[in-house]
Parts: sequence; structure tokens; C-alpha cells
Amino acid sequence: MLNGKTILLIIGGGIAAFKSLDLIRRLREEGVRVIPVLTKAAEEFVTPLSVSALAAEKVYRDLFDLTDEAEMGHIELSRAADLVVVSPATADLLGKMANGLANDLASTLLMATDTPVLAAPAMNVRMWEHPACQRNVAQLAADGIHFVGPEKGMMACGEFGPGRLSETPDIIGAIRAVLTDGPLKGKHILVTSGPTHEPIDPVRYIANRSSGAQGTAIAKALRDLGATVSFVTGPADVPPPRGVKVIPVETAKEMKDAVEAALPCDAAVFAAAVADWRVASESGSKIKKVKGELPVLTFAENPDILAGVSQMEQGRPTLVVGFAAETDDVISHATAKRKRKGCDWIVANDVSPSTGIMGGSENAVVLITERGADEWPRMGKEEVARQLAHRIADHLTQV
Ligand code: C5P
Repeated sequence: MLNGKTILLIIGGGIAAFKSLDLIRRLREEGVRVIPVLTKAAEEFVTPLSVSALAAEKVYRDLFDLTDEAEMGHIELSRAADLVVVSPATADLLGKMANGLANDLASTLLMATDTPVLAAPAMNVRMWEHPACQRNVAQLAADGIHFVGPEKGMMACGEFGPGRLSETPDIIGAIRAVLTDGPLKGKHILVTSGPTHEPIDPVRYIANRSSGAQGTAIAKALRDLGATVSFVTGPADVPPPRGVKVIPVETAKEMKDAVEAALPCDAAVFAAAVADWRVASESGSKIKKVKGELPVLTFAENPDILAGVSQMEQGRPTLVVGFAAETDDVISHATAKRKRKGCDWIVANDVSPSTGIMGGSENAVVLITERGADEWPRMGKEEVARQLAHRIADHLTQV
């Protein structure tokens, strides 16, 4: 399935650059055309001649090479491929990508491209763990850059930990996943996830026990079927998925604004546990403890984001899916909720503490549609997500 694809391979300057020779060889065995680009630093680790010989292509190296500009400008070069792979993605390259720098051929191509980008980081453990690098990676993941690795292991510098370049078969597996034409390819799906935090004052807030695990799993499953996912998440326990556009928010009001900004979409899945109320009497400064006096909180109702999107008169997503966390009479409450909110489907679950579902790894859901209630057996949240993503794909491809 990779046969006939073109990959622009940007080779960064790290000790793992030599592994790019093996990557080129294996990709060519699969029928992939590999157009190689070397950074200046990469030339210290691999020679342009060996890269060119293995790729059977010209190696691109210099931004100001006029012959190349005449033959194929950097804009065209950046878009000639089905995928841009950065391997090894050094701390320097990731920093440039995250900050929009474009001062050499590799970084300019990465700024100019409109094709998907897969980065395979490799660097010293301390560099990988450095807050600056982690900030850059988080930013790039939020920008929709795909990642493979780094792996944990013994490093060339003698240290042990995360920083090793992924093995060639794993990089090829990741390339295959990005290039897969899943049933949701070309569809934009919005997912809300996690709890919201509603401030009482600058240091205190009201929250709930949602971990964000189910919403995250749904975003991953939709991404794996080829969807472009916008993931609006409250402060969750689990990290957001890679390869989706992450929009972090804190309060219900911020979530509503982020959802509206992310529209239009083909489907929207509202898995967030949005606080029903916010503190109307929110204090701009920390509320002081006064002996013998208790603070009084007054509440205001939060906007119902799901109901708002479900009842849009123009530009409503084809499919709107809500969640219902109930502690009793799950099916009848959720069926009534589906009607009240105006959404197409409700994924209902029993979140009584005895079920261990809230914050746990399993879920037992009932899918309520216009045809009635479909009770699913108890299974892992990842599996619930996978099955739901397939149902969504079936629905969107039928209509
Ligand atoms: O009304 P209830 O909170 O039980 O409804 C749950 C569903 O509604 C979930 O899909 C949740 O994401 C969504 N919701 C929302 N905005 C709110 C409250 C809930 O989108 N303010």
C-alpha cells in the first residue's frame, strides 16, 4: 500500500542520521520514491553521496541553490510528496518547527508544506526531557504533527532513557498509519473531553472526577480511521493523543468558545464532563479565611454546549453524539436526554461509584439512537472508542 507514494525525507544532524540509510533502502523496497533533504549538520554524519546513491535521487541541501530553484522551488518541493518524514528529528529541528523558524532548506520546507509531517525524534535523554523540548513537542502535537518514538534504551552517548530513534520497521509502520486511507479520511470530527474547572477565586476551583480517558480514546480511534480531529479538552489526567489538533481549555465557557471556533465539522462527539454550574460570585482575589465566617458561593448555569450545537439551524454537524453519565435508570434518563438536547446519539453509562467506570479503564455503555437502546457489554474504554468510531464512520459514509 506504500507502493507509488512519494516521501520527502528530511535528515537531521544527529548520530542516528546513519539509520536514515536503512530507512531509505526499506522504503524503496516497498516501492516508495524518497526525495532526500540533508541539513548542514546531517552532512557531518552521512554523506550526500551515500544518501543520493541509496535513494537514486538528487539530494537537496541548500536553500539558495539557484539551479534547484529553477528546477523545483522549495515550495513545490515541500508539496511534491504524500508525506514529509523528519528522521532523525533533532532537538534543533523540533525547536525550529515548533517556533516557525525557516533559516535553512529543511526548516523552510517544513514551514511551506501542506502535506502531513511525521517526526521521528532522536537525541540525548536530557535534551529530550528538557522542558523546552517537551514544550516544543507538545506544541507540534497540537499543530497536528505526527510522531513516532523516541524509544527508551541505551544511547550512543552512554546514557539510558528515552531518546533513541525508533527502529526502521516502526517508522515504516507509522508512515503506513499516516498514509492509510481510512473510511474517515477527509472528514473533520470534533471531540470534547475531560472535566472543566470552574474557578471560585484565582487559586480554588470546582471540578469533577472525569479523567478524559474515554474522550482521548475516541479521538485516537477516529484519527486511526483517517479523520482530522479537533480535540477540545479540559484539564484531563491522561495526555492528549498525538496527531490531532489539541485545543486546551479550562472552563465551560472557554470550551463553548473553542467548540464554536472549531466548527464546521462532519461529526461532533461531546465526551467532556462539563460542569453544569459555574461560580457566579467568582472572586478576583483569593478569598480570605475570616474566623467565624463561612464564604457563600452562588452559582450560575453554564451554557449547554451539546444542546447548542445539536440545535444549530445552519451548519449543524451531520452527526452529533452526546454522553450521559447516570447513576440510576440509565436507559430512560438517557433516552429523555437525547430528545431534550436534540442530539442524534447518546452514549450512556452508569457512573455509580460501585461500577468503577469514572476514572477507570473499562466502560459499559448503552448507545441510544432514534432506533432505541443498544446495550454493549463491558469492555475497555479503547474498545468502546474503536466500536463507536466504526459506527460513526458507517453513519457518515452512508449519508
Ligand atoms: O446534561 P448532562 O450534563 O448530563 O449531559 C451530558 C452531555 O452533555 C455530555 O455529552 C456533555 O459533554 C454535554 N454537555 C455540554 N455542555 C454542558 C453540559 C453537558 O456539552 N454544559
